[in-house]
Amino acid sequence: DRTLTPYEVIGEEKLSELVHVFYHQVANHPELKSIFPEDFTETIRKQKQFLTQYLGGPSLYTEEHGHPMLRARHLPHEITPKRAEAWLSCMEIAMHQVELNEDIREGLFHRLSLTAHHMINTPEEAE
Ligand code: HEM
Repeated sequence: DRTLTPYEVIGEEKLSELVHVFYHQVANHPELKSIFPEDFTETIRKQKQFLTQYLGGPSLYTEEHGHPMLRARHLPHEITPKRAEAWLSCMEIAMHQVELNEDIREGLFHRLSLTAHHMINTPEEAE
């Protein structure tokens, strides 16, 4: 009788769809495309693993890559406030495009906003 995790509510298939649509947006975003590899295959695979555990599903990311330490893993990339907003706008579009479960959308977006802002490691002036 336990409550379902957000991962269980969304389902593996919809999460996969979300991640694909999200990186399609990222790949076409003028602020973002330059810092990502040309081939998104690995990025998509890792993000799907990460979001699975972030949403309460199995710890797929940690099993393969160890503790996420996301801020540290983003240090090689210049994450400016503008890029954090761009990342979030791609996610917002993706959530709507795949019609992510409405009861989960808002709370997840809020959590992702906090995580995204935590990733900022470069002030705008450095651009
Ligand atoms: C990896 C950018 C926020 C999760 C990456 C990579 C870039 C990037 C350039 C490397 C891609 C690759 O080489 O495959 C950004 C930017 C963000 C942001 C500009 C704006 C704030 C986030 C957030 C999350 C996240 C909010 C969590 C929900 C990940 C994960 C990886 C990753 C799991 C793979 C790490 C690994 O190599 O194992 N990100 N990211 N990112 N990002 Fe972000």
